[in-house]
Parts: sequence; C-alpha cells; structure tokens
Amino acid sequence: MKIEIRKAETIKPLFEDASKLTFGHLFTDHMFTMRYNPEKGWHAPVIEPYRPLELDPSAMVLHYGQAIFEGLKAYRAEDGRALLFRPADNFARMNRSAKRMCIPEFDKELAMAGLMELLRLEERWIPTAPGTSLYIRPTIIATDPYLGVKASSTYLFFIILSPVGPYYAEGFKPVRIYVEDEYVRAVRGGTGFTKAAANYAISLLAGEVAKEKGYSQVLWLDGVHRRYVEEVGSMNICFKIGGKIVTPALNGSILPGITRDSVLRLSADMGYPVEERLVDVEELFAAHEKGTLEEVFGTGTAAVVSPVGELRWKERSITVGDGQTGPVALALYERLTGIQYGQLPDPYGWSVEIR
Ligand code: COI
Repeated sequence: MKIEIRKAETIKPLFEDASKLTFGHLFTDHMFTMRYNPEKGWHAPVIEPYRPLELDPSAMVLHYGQAIFEGLKAYRAEDGRALLFRPADNFARMNRSAKRMCIPEFDKELAMAGLMELLRLEERWIPTAPGTSLYIRPTIIATDPYLGVKASSTYLFFIILSPVGPYYAEGFKPVRIYVEDEYVRAVRGGTGFTKAAANYAISLLAGEVAKEKGYSQVLWLDGVHRRYVEEVGSMNICFKIGGKIVTPALNGSILPGITRDSVLRLSADMGYPVEERLVDVEELFAAHEKGTLEEVFGTGTAAVVSPVGELRWKERSITVGDGQTGPVALALYERLTGIQYGQLPDPYGWSVEIR
C-alpha cells in the first residue's frame, strides 16, 4: 500500500539544548496515521503534519477506553547512524494487545514502513546528547460515534514522535518504590499483558498516593493473594538475590517487556543464572534481612534500566544495597545502551538501522 506524504508548511525550531530534554513534552512536525473501517480494512496510510485530532465527542475511545499503545525509541549513534531497537517486537506486541481489546490487527510490515518513512522525514529530531533519544509512540483508538457498549467498527492508528531525556527526574539515580497493598493493577484473564491505555489509567490513584508519600512509583502485587510481585508503574522489575537475577514470570497479568527480555538475555550471557518465577514480597524482605538482596532494578523502554534504592511495604522499609546504583544494574545499563546507541557490537540482531 502506498504511503502518502503531506509535508508541514512550517516546521518547529529544534530543542535548544538536548541535554535538558525531559520525557514526553515535545513533539515533532509530522505523524503517521492510517484508518480502519470494515469495508476497506486498514487503509489511507499517510505521513501528515502533527496536529490536534478531530474527534467526535461520542467517539467510543472517550467513553469506554478502547485504546492501545506502544513505546520504542530511535537512537543516534556516534557515527551518525540512526538506530531502532527491536521494533518488530513492538508491532507484534501491539497486535497481541489489539486482539485482546477487540481491535482489528494491522499489517506489521505496513506499520514498519510507515514508521521508517516518518523517521526519515523527522531524522533531525533524534537528539545526540548522552541518554537522549527519539521516543516513538504508536497508538490505536476506537473512533465510532456511538454510546452502546461494543467494539468500535472504525479505528485510527497513529505514530507520534517525541525527543526525550530521562523518564525519571532522578535520571540514573536510584528511585524509591512503594509496594502497593491496597489497589491492584491487573488480574489473570484481564488485560495486564497488553499495553491497553486503561491499564495505565487505573494505576494513577496508587501512583498519586505513593508520590504524596515521597515515592516515585508503585510496585504492584498480584491481585488475588496480594503477595506476589508483578511489575512497577512504567517498567518490569528484576532482583539480584544471592547472585541470581530473579524476575516475576510472565503470567498473563504482567507486561512482556522487550527491555525485560533483552536484560534477561544480557544477564544470562554475562554469566548470571536467571530465574523467571513467582516472587513473594516476603521473600524480598527476608533476603534483605539475610543480606542476600543485592540489587533491585526496573527495566522498560522509557525507564531503560532504573536502579531502585528503597522499597517500602506497609510499615516496613528497606534500603537496597547501600542505596546506590548496583554494579550489575550499571553493567546491564551500559551493555543495553551500548547496543542501542551502536557503541557495542550487537550479536543479537536487535538494532535496526533507519535508512
Ligand atoms: C515505555 O516504557 O515505553 C512505556 O510505555 C511506559 C510508559 C511511559 C507508559
């Protein structure tokens, strides 16, 4: 299918100082869109000027939250190449999210072609300062103007781009995490394994409460026993316990993170035994008592590898290690970003050059 290109008449000035970029405030000049209806399927792929969407107030996404998204990044290598990290995995996961949310699956090749075309046009927006990148947000929303509860019959797919710095205000410094014991994020059979927009909406209240208490994010426990660790607000979570890298197994309510998968692979190749299994929150506090809870860190596209310095659960609070970034989190961060920014060889075939 041919992708039409409609260029913006005027373009925005670039950010002045890339090293001051924060996360998710600034957007580029163009976006990719395509539409779905039952007659034509996914159609009308176009690169067009970034602009506010025109949406009927009765559009179903606004009422019942039928929306999914993805997050990936484009990185600028020192030699000038622009690189994507495992983009096909994002589109594959997006189609799995689509299926769960009754959204028609799209042609991954077409989405990839649209993304590449968009990135070629917006290349100047990929920042060069250390730790910065161009965040890519593919999204699908339900657009039928209708108030009955059913799956929409029409959809809008769009990809927008945002030059970003660190996700957390702390940068690569350890974050403080609040183990949530009242609210839950997902249960098995629900949508926890998808990037449904609603998963994030329901996480907001717990996040606000944690923030008021001085914590950056919430660590979710399972919705049934309120005992097994699931994930953090915007990242998956890993523990180094007695020399092993331990992370909650994918059980249907946890997001199958692409960074999670990459970090587990890198950990194994660095010689650490990796365990994907149930992680009881009691086990973490007991390991801390014994002195075997060596490191805690989150993984995510936005969060990269984020060290956790403190865990608070009910009245109990522990400082992980000496509260500073652990050596394994640092080594994983360096290997992962080394591959992402094209500074290290990529034996896994994860990097995809934008040409
Ligand atoms: C990402 O890491 O890309 C995410 O989607 C997390 C988030 C910012 C919602």
